[in-house]
Amino acid sequence: MERTFLMIKPDAVQRNLIGEVVSRIENKGLKLVAAKLFQANEELAKEHYSEHVEKPFFNGLVDFITSGPVFAMVVEGNNVVEVTRTLVGETNPAKAAPGTIRGDYGVDLGRNIIHGSDSNESAKREIGLWFNDAELNDYKLNNEAWVY
Ligand code: TYD
Ligand code: MG
Repeated sequence: MERTFLMIKPDAVQRNLIGEVVSRIENKGLKLVAAKLFQANEELAKEHYSEHVEKPFFNGLVDFITSGPVFAMVVEGNNVVEVTRTLVGETNPAKAAPGTIRGDYGVDLGRNIIHGSDSNESAKREIGLWFNDAELNDYKLNNEAWVY
């Protein structure tokens, strides 16, 4: 089983969309391993988005992500990085397909509802940044045999 890091961004928290977004993840058949409502400081946000440090949108992105609490999650499932990137949709909500989280809830590139790791390597790095080992729950979901 693979794990990935998902984060409901401050825009979606402010819009009371946590439940809607978590429902989609649960309905898909994925397993929540960890979750917390948490306001990141600048250091964590910069580290999380370090691949974009040279981009013109970097400072605005860090300001946005630290502007209020996010709902951070670790989610587990077969092929979960690809499955969740598909569920999340394209980066720009204006182009994201209807039926995806960004396509259904967002309009603006800078307010795109949710983050999802883009590879297993990123997932490992991001899970380690946002959660400690004690926060990761090892348990069996009884419906798993009906998902796979
Ligand atoms: P990126 O890693 O390219 O997208 P994704 O979140 O789909 O992996 O970019 C990180 C975030 O930066 C993205 O979710 C929204 C923001 N962003 C901008 O504000 N402006 C931009 O031009 C781009 C490409 C991203
Ligand atoms: Mg990315």
